[in-house]
Amino acid sequence: MSEENSKPDLNEDSNVLESHMDLIDASAASSRENHLRENGMEPVSLWVFLACGIALIIGGAVIGKGGSISFGALNDYVLNGYIQGDPPGGEVVEMQPKPIIDVFVKNGAKIYQAKCQGCHQSNGLGDGANYPPLGNSEWVTGETAALSQIIMNGLMGPIEVDGRVWNGAMPSQAAGMTAADLAAVMTYIRNSFGNETGDVVSVEMGENAIAKYKERGVAAGPIQVAELESKYKLNLEGEVVDPQVKVNPETLEKIEE
Ligand code: HEC
Repeated sequence: MSEENSKPDLNEDSNVLESHMDLIDASAASSRENHLRENGMEPVSLWVFLACGIALIIGGAVIGKGGSISFGALNDYVLNGYIQGDPPGGEVVEMQPKPIIDVFVKNGAKIYQAKCQGCHQSNGLGDGANYPPLGNSEWVTGETAALSQIIMNGLMGPIEVDGRVWNGAMPSQAAGMTAADLAAVMTYIRNSFGNETGDVVSVEMGENAIAKYKERGVAAGPIQVAELESKYKLNLEGEVVDPQVKVNPETLEKIEE
């Protein structure tokens, strides 16, 4: 080993960076560094961001409820679901408590339009040829068990309605029908087309109707007048509700005032 090579390499005549330039990607290295920001332009902490978000949600809820900023109002909003608002372009959503009969008639009208109107017509008076009227029909305003089983099972004629004998066939309307739907559509037809029973078929009664339908056997097919007369000339069991009691239109829960 020569004298020169054994000394520590202190001479600076070769530039380390230059000699390794092919190995160093200077731009990649600089992009890994934290950028220096001007004062006031530093990134916001995640916690500050989250706190702002929560404040916005609470603020929105309180303002949406109607102004008074208290946790009582917020609780009401969250627990009872009072929301008022008109979604853009949509139907007006009314969440104020309303008499249960009004809510059921309104919900029932929608089910009627979807499931029954094509045959029984929008005025509920049938078409005078194949489809009997629901207005002025004792099958509609009479015992609720019989009416519910016509809707759930369908019906095979002959049947007398409004002084005339009909001899057709109505298919079962059970598909997708919940107890609340059935209660609503029954309440609607019993209080429309000139019918005025003034009463509400409760959701519990709707459940009872579905139980009767299952008990009869889903595959039993359309029901006939003889079976209606012998087994279903009675009213559905279940809670009898005051038609004027106020409920939340969305949840159907009673609201004590
Ligand atoms: C595809 C046509 C059709 C649809 C849909 C239909 N019905 Fe009927 N409905 C009939 C026919 C036809 C009869 C008469 C059957 C007969 O002659 O036995 C009838 C009879 C009835 C009756 C007994 C007779 C009367 O006029 O009071 C009731 C009640 C009734 N339907 C209610 C409903 C309800 C409620 C819906 C919707 C949930 C509905 N129907 C959907 C065709 C239909």
